[in-house]
Amino acid sequence: MIQKSLKRINSKIISNKTLKKTITIHFCSKFSEIEKILTTANYSFLKQLNFNFNYGNYVILPDINGKISSVIFGMKKTRKVSKFLIGSQLSKLPKNNYLIKNYPKNENTFELILGFYLSFYSFKEYHKRSKSLKKPTLNLPNYKKKNKILYFAESEYVVRDLINLPANILNPNYFEEYVKKFSNFHNTKLKIVCGKSLKKDFPLIHEVGKASSNKPRLFELTYKRSNSSLNLTLIGKGVCFDTGGLNLKSGFGMMNMKKDMSGAASVLGLAHYLIRLNLNLNLRILIPCVENSLSEKSFRPGDILISRSGKGIEIKNTDAEGRLILADALTYSTEKKSDILVTFASLTGAARVAMGPDITPFFSTCDDFADLLKKSGDKVFDPVWRLPFYKDYNKELSSEFTDLNNAPLSGMAGAITAALFLKKFTKSHNMFLHFDIFGWNTKSKPGKTYGGLMQGVRSLGTAIEEKFFN
Ligand code: BES
Ligand code: ZN
Repeated sequence: MIQKSLKRINSKIISNKTLKKTITIHFCSKFSEIEKILTTANYSFLKQLNFNFNYGNYVILPDINGKISSVIFGMKKTRKVSKFLIGSQLSKLPKNNYLIKNYPKNENTFELILGFYLSFYSFKEYHKRSKSLKKPTLNLPNYKKKNKILYFAESEYVVRDLINLPANILNPNYFEEYVKKFSNFHNTKLKIVCGKSLKKDFPLIHEVGKASSNKPRLFELTYKRSNSSLNLTLIGKGVCFDTGGLNLKSGFGMMNMKKDMSGAASVLGLAHYLIRLNLNLNLRILIPCVENSLSEKSFRPGDILISRSGKGIEIKNTDAEGRLILADALTYSTEKKSDILVTFASLTGAARVAMGPDITPFFSTCDDFADLLKKSGDKVFDPVWRLPFYKDYNKELSSEFTDLNNAPLSGMAGAITAALFLKKFTKSHNMFLHFDIFGWNTKSKPGKTYGGLMQGVRSLGTAIEEKFFN
């Protein structure tokens, strides 16, 4: 559970105290920069290698006793270099204390450290044998943002682990146990709604989840600080598996649908980060948690469901289930005041088609905050891009039989119409943000393993810090 994720991060592998026995890493782009630093033997060794100083290439040099004496790291950029490359390369060094003191001014130390932490992530729980490698330690004297990066790394481990857990393990029952442990860990209040109360008070969550023998429920976590200056409400889509329901997905479309709870994972990741930072805020986290399954109890195309808000919804497609469970959670959230209201959800395939796996689309009712979010995202290597709540497309959400339909037939602008659908349940909140995340990395890259991926969390966490706690 949460401790399992956190235990795998050793915060000590980054040290900002001055350590004694260290091996210096020299970051350089040409021979002339190191001629005076190295021994003649080492220098001629590098020459013989014809070392090219390309970005991220490195050579470990020995002293006369065969011990490691220094490391030369290439910094020459010949083409576009990938994010987190240096941190990832550093993570491959053999166990030892390494001193980083001349990291070039135009390079990003935040990227280096975050990349370093994230490069040790693996999801090996279900391998018969897995051994953990001995890790190197990086010594960056006086570096100030160490904790911020560490907490981001922790959140990322928590989120990736949750997404990577398969649906035969992470079902609504298991998720409840997880949330209980999470709540204990962070000392938050936890309320769980299920059974008859769920059916009565959150009819859409009940309808979507009722086909599964793993019963639907709603988790509500509350974290309160005295004299808090900010009330933040986070809602995450917790569909533990999305078959599509009676509008069954294809085999290919269903392949990665264990990740359909990535919104829920993200809000827990963001909460973890904000609480770890000890920010003076009140947090409320809502997670509608279901399996969108097939059985005789499944809700059907054509069904008319009455939501918590009283609005009727005609089901055009049972695969557009995320917006339904979020709608009831949103209505509930507006019954108490919040300064910022946020949803994180793997809501539409259209968002993925528009942005691909690297950029997270988001919607915002507040222009200033949207601008800040974009800038913050770039700063913390979590790119986000704003899409519009384009009012005219509301037409698509009408129904011949009731107030709304859940899946416009035209299929156009799917991410926008889904966001507009959610917005209808926010009582025109003046700071409503919605992230339509993908939550998955399709190809292994430096600092990013294949599988579960945290998106939008670093952007939003940073934007909140800058706007409210600076
Ligand atoms: N979980 C999916 C969205 C999704 C699919 C996210 C693939 C990421 C990758 C969601 O529940 C869904 O199936 N949405 C439908 C909505 C449609 C029926 C209006 C979609 O996007 O196809
Ligand atoms: Zn679906």
